[in-house]
Amino acid sequence: MARKVIAGNWKMNLSQKEGEELVKASNAFVEANPLVHVEVVIAPPYLQLQQAVKYSPTGRVSIAAQNMNENDNGAFTGEISASMLKEIGVELVIIGHSERREILGESDAQIHAKLKKALRSNLYPILCVGEKLEDRKSGNHFKFVQGQLESALEGFSGDELSSLVIAYEPIWAIGTGETASPAQAQEMHAFIRKHIASIYTATLADEISVLYGGSVKPENAKEIFAQPDVDGGLIGGAATKPESFIELIKIGESVLR
Ligand code: 13P
Repeated sequence: MARKVIAGNWKMNLSQKEGEELVKASNAFVEANPLVHVEVVIAPPYLQLQQAVKYSPTGRVSIAAQNMNENDNGAFTGEISASMLKEIGVELVIIGHSERREILGESDAQIHAKLKKALRSNLYPILCVGEKLEDRKSGNHFKFVQGQLESALEGFSGDELSSLVIAYEPIWAIGTGETASPAQAQEMHAFIRKHIASIYTATLADEISVLYGGSVKPENAKEIFAQPDVDGGLIGGAATKPESFIELIKIGESVLR
């Protein structure tokens, strides 16, 4: 069965103080209410990773980086390596977020290389895929997402991918307030699982978590998380405030199975 995950991606938001408060509040909640069904993940900016690890000492809240470089080390000014993340206790890394693909020009080849580096460094990858509005409008969305999966996963064995988490984040739903309908999310998640089953095995397809991301908030999370192929959420805006993030964790714990 796939891991169920509620993950908050802060993007380039929150001061050290705000970040500290959010990790502490999330950690206090999960310590007081041990979760049976969902794992909680927080992805702060690089500069706050170390304090986030410190403020979640039992590991009930796992800390993720929002990105990393695909090289071991060397002359890559401004970059951070997998071993640097591992060294400070980071457990997961988001790879191929659409903002990195679209705004920062990350290529499919780079995303593939990052995925390889994360998997070989024992960092759990959260691989993001998702189409633009024009692909959705032209009916090309399945083909587009399939292409992203094929290029990211090329050459990996099924065994290597057992720790993979995929996040389906339609670009048109990110930060726009417009969410994919529960049916649209379910349809794409089922498609992703079917695609994994066709390249690998049905068992692996069942084990890989597929999270939905794009304007998830407490008001719409229940319906989305209730879809059979939705294993949780990768949440931006609504994960940057303790009340709404904790509310999303509660909804995940009660709905995700
Ligand atoms: P929003 O929840 O703010 O739409 O962001 C989604 C996202 O991109 C998470 O990675």
